[in-house]
Amino acid sequence: MNNEEIRQLNNQQLQEFDREYVGGLKWKTIQTLIEHNFNGQRFSFLDIGGGNGIFTDRILQNYTESVGTIIDNANVLLKLNKPHIRKTLLLASVEELNNIFQGQTKFDLIFFNWSLHHFVKNSYSETRRIQYEALISARNLLSENGYISIFENIYDGIVFTKLPSYLVFYLTSSKILASTMKKMGANTAGCGVCFLSKAQWEDTITNAGLIVSQYTDYEKWKDINIMRRIFLHIGPVRHGHFLLSKKQK
Ligand SMILES: C[S@@+](CC[C@H](N)C(=O)[O-])C[C@H]1O[C@@H](n2cnc3c(N)ncnc32)[C@H](O)[C@@H]1O
Repeated sequence: MNNEEIRQLNNQQLQEFDREYVGGLKWKTIQTLIEHNFNGQRFSFLDIGGGNGIFTDRILQNYTESVGTIIDNANVLLKLNKPHIRKTLLLASVEELNNIFQGQTKFDLIFFNWSLHHFVKNSYSETRRIQYEALISARNLLSENGYISIFENIYDGIVFTKLPSYLVFYLTSSKILASTMKKMGANTAGCGVCFLSKAQWEDTITNAGLIVSQYTDYEKWKDINIMRRIFLHIGPVRHGHFLLSKKQK
């Protein structure tokens, strides 16, 4: 990975993420994944950008044979974690994954719960590259029969599918526009965020040598203001879940 670091939100912005998004049907997706593949067996997992640890704690509590590690570069979120005998916390950036584990450790499950779109660098192309490199690092840490699980916000354009991704990135990552974007309600103003279309995620995943074993679309968002939709060329937006493996299953 290159030397320039991933940008980080300030503590006030990060505190917005002291919540948990994997509920209802999404938690069912995770339960099915675990119960189908590890049915009562020991398994290890890595939660990349696991923040306050609520998701990790839920797995540890429901699957007593599991062992979890969280890596997050935000101390303000990491310190909200409740201690647990089967949980390890790492205060570090995803860019350091290869150095930390040095090929010695493998995980059966690796989670990116809405963290990939926060791996933002100074330009759109560097940002897309770091997302790809994060997937490569995860692939290197995955056990042979393991899975990578990704929850993301999927932004497809009305006609040009990639356009909202560029527009949202440029507007939120600009330092000049930061105060305007903040007033317009963008929590990532001045730092940036990089949502992708479904096709962009699929390309990135395939380029990283991974296979989409399963994809799940959740309910489309209906509460996006029409002016914002037109201005940002936003078509269907929803949460999506990608389940990835190293080989066809
Ligand atoms: C939207 S929050 C999601 C938190 C949690 N995964 C959840 O679903 O509630 C994004 C998380 O990614 C973390 N993050 C952002 N950049 C990171 C990086 N370079 N390395 C590790 N974690 C990062 C943030 O600190 C934050 O905890």
